[in-house]
Amino acid sequence: MVLIGSFSLRLLASFAVFACATASEIYHIPSTLSDAPSNVQFTSDSRGVDAPKVHPINGSAFDWWYFDVVSTDPGSSASAVVVFYTASSTSIPGAAPSNMTLPVQIWLTFPNGTQVFAETQADAATVTTDGDFSSGDWHESGFAWRYAPNSGYEILIDAPDSQIKGSINFQPRAPAHYPCGPARRGENIEVGPQLGWANAVPDAASTVDLIVNETKLSFKGAGYHDKNWSNQPLVTNLASWYWGHGRIGPYSFVWFDFLALNGTEYVSAYASKDDSILVASCQPDSIRVRPTGQNSTYPPLSSTGPPSGYHISLDLGREGSLELNVTVAAQIAAIPPIYTRSTGRVTGVLTTGAHTVEEMTGVALFEQFALTE
Ligand SMILES: *[C@@H]1O[C@H](CO)[C@@H](O)[C@H](O)[C@H]1NC(C)=O
Ligand SMILES: *[C@@H]1O[C@H](CO)[C@@H](O)[C@H](O)[C@H]1NC(C)=O
Ligand SMILES: *[C@@H]1O[C@H](CO)[C@@H](O)[C@H](O)[C@H]1NC(C)=O
Ligand SMILES: *[C@@H]1O[C@H](CO)[C@@H](O)[C@H](O)[C@H]1NC(C)=O
Ligand SMILES: *[C@@H]1O[C@H](CO)[C@@H](O)[C@H](O)[C@H]1NC(C)=O
Ligand SMILES: *[C@@H]1O[C@H](CO)[C@@H](O)[C@H](O)[C@H]1NC(C)=O
Ligand SMILES: *[C@@H]1O[C@H](CO)[C@@H](O)[C@H](O)[C@H]1NC(C)=O
Ligand SMILES: *[C@@H]1O[C@H](CO)[C@@H](O)[C@H](O)[C@H]1NC(C)=O
Repeated sequence: MVLIGSFSLRLLASFAVFACATASEIYHIPSTLSDAPSNVQFTSDSRGVDAPKVHPINGSAFDWWYFDVVSTDPGSSASAVVVFYTASSTSIPGAAPSNMTLPVQIWLTFPNGTQVFAETQADAATVTTDGDFSSGDWHESGFAWRYAPNSGYEILIDAPDSQIKGSINFQPRAPAHYPCGPARRGENIEVGPQLGWANAVPDAASTVDLIVNETKLSFKGAGYHDKNWSNQPLVTNLASWYWGHGRIGPYSFVWFDFLALNGTEYVSAYASKDDSILVASCQPDSIRVRPTGQNSTYPPLSSTGPPSGYHISLDLGREGSLELNVTVAAQIAAIPPIYTRSTGRVTGVLTTGAHTVEEMTGVALFEQFALTE
């Protein structure tokens, strides 16, 4: 079903079992931009972590579902990133002007560093929520994702035009969260001015199993899934940001450091261990992220160039604190000179009180925006 110029929400089933409500909702999203005001959600409610947060999508709105996997094999450069958009191209910095509102983009990196990018367009999209999880179908694009309680998330690809076929699986191993706390109702879900962020899967045991132009791309790694949204173009509010996720020893972590145009810095810190949250906070002292090595001026300008890495101090509360060095290994996407996405290695030390407890190594996938001249 394609609904032109309108957003329809059909309540399929909503029932209470004892104290516990389970809701499943289906959202149909058309491929045409709306002329109407876009309503945006910045406080969580019963609609769940992964539900659409902006409707309708007008000329300054975006609402995306983002997935990635970075190989955990130290000898491999392999990674995969898939983004499902409901967006106006003019809301996204650096995007070529386009009337496409439902693109799916995929970036693949082979173990030897060879990269492939493909983009297809859907003629309508359907998102179905199941509690805090979701499934999505970008019709006629060859790309969809499914959530099932036993198998987690799975991206299913059958895109003959891009010569890509197969699946990417995400078995969650870290609880969902919002910028300032766990995934529960009534949370602030605005990570910086006018930018919503919800992280359904901060870390996952992932398996990539694809055939790309008759070549197999198959690896295991640390997976991740989030979504972000706004009814205003990102450039209206953002000067620069650092975002990324990684895994080191038993810890899964996610960082967000957002510098607004007026100079106010907003952060979000997340870490989990053994599938439970150690920290989910937007307090200014919960995390500090700063560039290191080459081009490590802070704040970064679009002329600064990408840094060699980042130093991250992450407060784990009673567990101690993590000092992490993230080093860029491979750049996997870029919009020069404002944006880079990279994979890298992480070294870290866990400190409890005065005692340095443990040195660890791991992997990360991360990005930076620097929009001011
Ligand atoms: C989209 O809606 C928002 C919220 O009402 C409004 O601020 C914005 O100007 C609208 N954009 C366009 C292009 O109409
Ligand atoms: C989008 O743009 C393309 C190329 O400019 C054009 O052929 C197509 O008709 C446009 N589609 C819509 C829905 O406006
Ligand atoms: C890298 O791997 C890809 C996929 O297996 C292959 O097509 C390509 O030739 C390789 N490149 C080099 C430089 O070995
Ligand atoms: C597959 O190969 C064809 C022909 O070489 C090329 O045009 C296309 O871009 C490739 N697709 C991908 C996803 O690499
Ligand atoms: C949305 O978030 C993803 C991952 O967190 C990031 O790659 C992307 O740049 C963000 N886009 C916008 C417009 O905020
Ligand atoms: C920037 O804007 C925010 C939100 O309006 C405000 O709280 C903050 O004080 C401002 N910061 C500066 C340095 O003006
Ligand atoms: C630092 O920036 C310069 C200029 O943009 C670039 O050539 C260089 O590769 C960057 N260094 C790193 C480590 O990316
Ligand atoms: C991080 O890098 C700094 C500067 O090179 C170094 O002093 C520190 O020991 C490193 N820490 C870890 C955990 O690798």
